Amino acid sequence: MSFKRRPLIAGNWKMNGLLDFVKNLAGVLADKVDQNDPTHFDMLICPPATLLHPIKILVGKSGLLLGGQDCHMAKSGAHTGDISAEMLKDLGSSHVIVGHSERRVDYNETNEIVKSKAEAALGVNLTAIICVGETEAERNQGITVDVVKSQILGSIPERATAENIIIAYEPVWAIGTGQTPTKSQVQEVHVLIRKTLGDKIGLKEAEQTRLLYGGSVKPSNAIELMDLNDVDGALVGGASLSPIDFWVIAESCPK
Ligand code: PGA
Repeated sequence: MSFKRRPLIAGNWKMNGLLDFVKNLAGVLADKVDQNDPTHFDMLICPPATLLHPIKILVGKSGLLLGGQDCHMAKSGAHTGDISAEMLKDLGSSHVIVGHSERRVDYNETNEIVKSKAEAALGVNLTAIICVGETEAERNQGITVDVVKSQILGSIPERATAENIIIAYEPVWAIGTGQTPTKSQVQEVHVLIRKTLGDKIGLKEAEQTRLLYGGSVKPSNAIELMDLNDVDGALVGGASLSPIDFWVIAESCPK
């Protein structure tokens, strides 16, 4: 019998959302989380940093969690345009995504950089959601296992525990494309991630660490994905911009 991990449904709004989104989206979700208390999942939204403060004010003490989409590895200093982990925390975040493939590509973020960002997050008691995943070319070359393994080994801080990190497996070719891997492909990579984590942080911690799947998760495929043994929730992009769809996805998590 495997260890029971509480599912997490995380929404990554990416670069979407102006102030009017706050009420329409975050407000609706916060109300739903409160009305359905206790939920059988945790719900997190990661809006653009510009919206964290107004959302925090609106959701107040609701059970809806807030997170950033990225942070800088330094505590503070001369880094124009960047945001530190402590700043995210200051605005009410409990989590931060690091190493999303869009950042790995757009900003050439290496595993080393991702690891130092995750370390910065852990340093201020934010939970780091560390993203990994292969490109389409890598999958076609048959090197998915090697790529994901080296991302895990290279991006996870030494002090990682089941409490302070979450891994999101997001095949790059599935993000925003409507394509998803088969159930067995997802489960296979999640097992690999848990095993690799076990080698790095110990079996007990690995067994308790939440592993999210991300990449074109939507209401129509959420049940079968969330039902997989080693999938403990989802990192959702496009569908997280609809409170109805996002809620349906969350409700798809097994009780
Ligand atoms: P998607 O994005 O759900 O729109 O595919 C997922 C992500 O990038 O986290």
